[in-house]
Amino acid sequence: MILTVTLNPSMDSIYFTDTFVLGAMNRCSNPIKAVGGKGINAGRTAAILGGKVTTMGVLAGKNGELIRHELEQEPFKTKFISIFGESRNAVTVMDREKNQTEIVELGPEITADTEKIILDTILDFADEQNEGPIIALCGSANTKNDYLYQEYLLQLRDKLGTKVKILTDISGKQLKNVLNNSVKPYFIKPNIQEFSDLIDLPLTSKIDVINNLNHPMLKEVPFVLISCGGDGAVAKYHDQIFDVIIPTIDIINPTGSGDATVGGVAFALDQNFSIEETLRYAMACGMSNALEQAVGYVSIENVETLKNQIILKEIEQMFHV
Ligand SMILES: Nc1ncnc2c1ncn2[C@@H]1O[C@H](COP(=O)(O)OP(=O)(O)OP(=O)(O)O)[C@@H](O)[C@H]1O
Ligand SMILES: [Mg+2]
Repeated sequence: MILTVTLNPSMDSIYFTDTFVLGAMNRCSNPIKAVGGKGINAGRTAAILGGKVTTMGVLAGKNGELIRHELEQEPFKTKFISIFGESRNAVTVMDREKNQTEIVELGPEITADTEKIILDTILDFADEQNEGPIIALCGSANTKNDYLYQEYLLQLRDKLGTKVKILTDISGKQLKNVLNNSVKPYFIKPNIQEFSDLIDLPLTSKIDVINNLNHPMLKEVPFVLISCGGDGAVAKYHDQIFDVIIPTIDIINPTGSGDATVGGVAFALDQNFSIEETLRYAMACGMSNALEQAVGYVSIENVETLKNQIILKEIEQMFHV
């Protein structure tokens, strides 16, 4: 059983224009609309693969109702809490040259009270399961509390023990604070830029990533997957390090590939697959998402085919303490 959590879902609109001129009237076609949210995308991916998925989070106002309605058509169960405010809109304008302009609202605030309700909902859900679920905490939250995810991790570990695997796809201060604590997530998936920000070093290649896998911040995180877009990924699983090599593909839209990757990992862990098979699923899902126009969507046929094209190169550790 997989539970994914999204604390700031959005109603996404993409407008296509010939040109976009600042300070002028820009006419465009009607937008393509879709629900956005990292945990929702990861949950959709895992559900398409055949996982039993519940996705939860918070929704607010009229937009929240719209999102709730859309989510009812999805291949997962939902458990969204209604809170005060308005779920956010995220608007993208794409011109002929593929320049992308984005306007993203803050979304409803996660107050201390909401924080507690979310935690209780996760705990209630975990209690109802026969086996410990995989819990994926994904995406940003509009909160003044930079320790929100750290606190969730502490509480979840305290109440549910180590049998429940907690995955996070978060960045910035929240990730830093999570990793600076003694209770670590089971899995993290920063992309190369997020990893670079985390350790405060300019990283541009997989070699740079590999050379920094001994960073103290990653210590005791059992499974680290640093995704590198079209270059695949680098993985650290306990004492093993893998260069995860993917074939070149003709992408259509890579947005949400990281979310799909997390969905693939959640599915594979829930199935108790080996680390090698898990990495293959993770990459195949990211790639399959990049082959679709839709964000956070994979095709099971593409995943099955791509999975066999992933090359895993285990790397001898260059650093011994
Ligand atoms: N251009 C691409 N070509 C092939 N595969 C890709 C491409 N971009 C992404 N992928 C696949 O998806 C995985 C995750 O992509 P990426 O590193 O871009 O994640 P991300 O930046 O977290 O994405 P997002 O936050 O938009 O979901 C990659 O490791 C790879 O397997
Ligand atoms: Mg990402």
